[in-house]
Amino acid sequence: MKKNIVRFSILASLFVLFSCNDNNKLTEVVEVPLPTKEEKITIGSPNDVKADPGSFELTKLPFAYDGLSPALRSLTLETHYSKHYLSYTNNFNKEIVSTEFENMPIEDILKKLDLNNAKLRQNAGGYYNHTLYFNVLTPKEQTPKDTLAGSIDKEFGSFNNLTNQFKGQAEKQFGSGWVWLVVDRYGKLQITTTENQDNPLMKNALIPGTPILGIDLWEHAYYLDYQNRKGSYIDAFYEHINWEKVNEYYVEALKKVKKV
Ligand SMILES: [Fe+2]
Repeated sequence: MKKNIVRFSILASLFVLFSCNDNNKLTEVVEVPLPTKEEKITIGSPNDVKADPGSFELTKLPFAYDGLSPALRSLTLETHYSKHYLSYTNNFNKEIVSTEFENMPIEDILKKLDLNNAKLRQNAGGYYNHTLYFNVLTPKEQTPKDTLAGSIDKEFGSFNNLTNQFKGQAEKQFGSGWVWLVVDRYGKLQITTTENQDNPLMKNALIPGTPILGIDLWEHAYYLDYQNRKGSYIDAFYEHINWEKVNEYYVEALKKVKKV
């Protein structure tokens, strides 16, 4: 009994101590809602992600991790950018230290590298592919304009035809890989695919060319949001393509074709 009285006194003292403000008045108890499952995860900023010192840096993500939400949610984008892309970049930089590739442009590295060098092939491809992927995403839906729009109509018949062919190839891609829109050696637009982290600049390309758009079909790009619904991810990605940027890449790629 005595023990209970002591316990009650301590609890009462603590209640008075913690519920009084500076004016010694009792404060109102405010109910704070519990964080939702989503809020418990702290999402950072892409600006805080930096590659280790080396020849290549991460491309800057020009929007916050929630910039493509709800199509691609923050956690998906943050994991992809700050974990997968960062890891490819750091590993790639490590692989080329003190080699002939250390000061070479990435396109040349991809064209020249020995496909039997698995680590360099995977990480150089991973770096280039993800750099392009993050560069061609944008929060607002766009459609092709300018030079690219004209060429799409001429070479595919319509933007709708390009869309169906691109999405169709992406749906059919089995396992980890990429689907690309490239400018081939003749300056023609082509849709092609590669496995793993290969890309159309490498020696084994089915259709060699300069990529101007690429969709990452590795599960890490969409599994948190879409699980096995790959088609929904492809639609979501397509709604966020920065066609203005793709047009810039197209014009640059055409210039290179003319020089050859
Ligand atoms: Fe990826």
